[in-house]
Amino acid sequence: MSFAKLSFTTFILCSIWCLPASAGTSNSLLDISPDGKWLAATNRDNGTVSIVDLQSKKVVHEIPVGHHPEGVTFLGQSTNVAVTVYGDDQIVLADGATGKVTGRIAVEDEPYGIVATPDGSRVFATLEYPAKIVEIDVATQKIVRTLDIGGNGIRSGSLAPPFLRGIALSPSDNRLYVTEYLTANVHAFDLSSGKEVDRWIANAADNISRQIAIHPTRPKAYIPHIRSRTHVNRGEGSVVPFVGVLTTTAGEGRRRVTMPMDGFNSTFVVANPWETAISPDAKTVVTVFAGTDDMYVCDVINDDYRELAHHQTVRLGHNPRAVKFAPDGSQFYVYNTLDFEVAGYNTNSLQKISEITVCENPLGEEKLLGKILFYTALQPMVGRRWISCSSCHPDGDSDGRTWQNPEGLRNTTALYAMAWTHPLHWSADRDESQDFEHTIRGQLMQGQGLVRGAIHESLDKPNKGLSKGLDALAFYSNAHPVPMSPHSKEGLSDSAKRGKELFFSAETKCATCHSGPYYSDSTPVKPYKLHDVGTGTSDKSEKMGPLYDTPTLLSVYRTAPYLHHGEAKTLEDVLRKCNPDDKHGKTSHLSDAQVADLVEFMKALPYEDPEPAGIAAKLPKVDR
Ligand code: HEC
Ligand code: HEC
Repeated sequence: MSFAKLSFTTFILCSIWCLPASAGTSNSLLDISPDGKWLAATNRDNGTVSIVDLQSKKVVHEIPVGHHPEGVTFLGQSTNVAVTVYGDDQIVLADGATGKVTGRIAVEDEPYGIVATPDGSRVFATLEYPAKIVEIDVATQKIVRTLDIGGNGIRSGSLAPPFLRGIALSPSDNRLYVTEYLTANVHAFDLSSGKEVDRWIANAADNISRQIAIHPTRPKAYIPHIRSRTHVNRGEGSVVPFVGVLTTTAGEGRRRVTMPMDGFNSTFVVANPWETAISPDAKTVVTVFAGTDDMYVCDVINDDYRELAHHQTVRLGHNPRAVKFAPDGSQFYVYNTLDFEVAGYNTNSLQKISEITVCENPLGEEKLLGKILFYTALQPMVGRRWISCSSCHPDGDSDGRTWQNPEGLRNTTALYAMAWTHPLHWSADRDESQDFEHTIRGQLMQGQGLVRGAIHESLDKPNKGLSKGLDALAFYSNAHPVPMSPHSKEGLSDSAKRGKELFFSAETKCATCHSGPYYSDSTPVKPYKLHDVGTGTSDKSEKMGPLYDTPTLLSVYRTAPYLHHGEAKTLEDVLRKCNPDDKHGKTSHLSDAQVADLVEFMKALPYEDPEPAGIAAKLPKVDR
């Protein structure tokens, strides 16, 4: 590129982006219009976006957008919004003034975070599973560019996939910053070239990073996340809350300061940081904790060393997932998602000044109670405040980790389709979700428990019906649908078709155990069908093997690492490295191309929804 052209481009970019810091440069479930008059909130459970008039404090429109909307941003000075609809793989454009949807743009898979250029002409969104970023031209409603982190995801020593979630647009350095959900690694892309230009690798235990906020004037970025310390099997210190502070300029030395939020204030431990926001005057950073239902208000210290100092702790409502400052900085808004309420606070006094219900409870009473219990790090679920069920099973997903449990190494399972795949746990030691009362009362969570008084020591005796709360927790745990595979949106590929044949062949025997619509022979009826597939000897700490319950193969495309001990980094590893004696189906006779076909087939699961397929309806299902 010639010099003249470069300065012309710089001029164009500056005329678009060198405006004062404005709303929507950092992904969030909330956004506020640049004039401070409107607020938009995505209602994940209700499939809608609420548009609130901040003067009258009234919801003027609740716009249906689709399954699991996650991110929202206003577009320029208008009342138009762009929304990521995670469950439907769409970015939806809507007019906040009329409440009408004006466009739906299909994207590859799982759009999560979204930000817009200050003039609202372009939006950028992270696509979680494919680990890509799409740039959309709002006027034409077309994807104009796709950025890819390529193979750069797995660098921190974590085996978790590099899913992307957080995204921030930084006009001053003409960059996009994105965070990896299950590793907290951060990547920077130059907007002109579309190339990755920098990255910040996290500690191998860092996890669950959904958002990133950018300092308005200094080269700093803030990312809330946790650290999953998988060797600690007690509540205290197993899942640690952090805010990472990145220095975004190049150079040697400490470019990533990771600030533990539990050691920040001698009186309180907090759990599950979800979002962070920095005030427009850059004096205050606030972080909401979705586990302990509170927030830290911190002073920003510009010494490149301490970075943040605790100022005050504020109690919030149920499961706060988002926080956003008004453009003039006088107020900030917190989204208590399980109260379906946005609360406004005065930035100076930290007093609550408004409460706005953004939608009705779409879950029903029992599921809402179950969800509140699943997300809370407070009593009666948790004694020491560090951890909740959701710390390891966020939204029913796996945390991509293998924990050193007392019974041996145990890879966290996703909770998809669990109602049809009882018994529970790799070793099938639990026959009902109510048995998680033992987890609540045990070392891990140290809670009082949901059942009054003593519980059955034996896991065989039913705990169902003993407590309204416990039954509600079971109901919620059993209610996670299986995400459809993005690998089979256009049907099975030729390779997947060849793999399917191999999978169902008498020679490989895969389908003898991975049978039925859930690809598992699990049955809630005793005696259970457990199998020794040769995986029970490598872990010296194993106390229960070598018989394991056949896991479902639906959605294995997104649940690496694999097997109960997490030793298989990839699906190929399951069939090759971890199956040397052909005890786990017969695979030694397969060529590399055939193994690749088999893997393609597994990655395509599910390619049809097992429930409407009808067969599932006849299977034993456990609702609660
Ligand atoms: C420290 C991380 C962690 C926490 C906290 C946690 N789990 Fe788990 N969960 C795991 C791991 C690891 C497994 C696999 C364990 C096994 O199979 O033995 C698992 C398995 C499960 C399963 C079995 C799923 C299946 O299909 O077999 C259910 C259900 C479950 N957890 C629910 C809960 C509930 C409810 C809570 C809160 C009371 C909870 N978990 C807290 C890590 C965690
Ligand atoms: C004898 C029953 C049986 C057969 C045959 C069998 N599996 Fe499995 N499969 C299991 C069991 C049990 C596990 C869990 C083992 C463990 O975690 O240690 C498992 C685990 C897996 C996993 C890991 C899933 C996860 O979430 O971690 C994959 C993938 C898999 N099997 C694929 C296959 C394929 C492909 C074949 C055919 C080549 C096959 N299996 C044959 C019983 C079987």
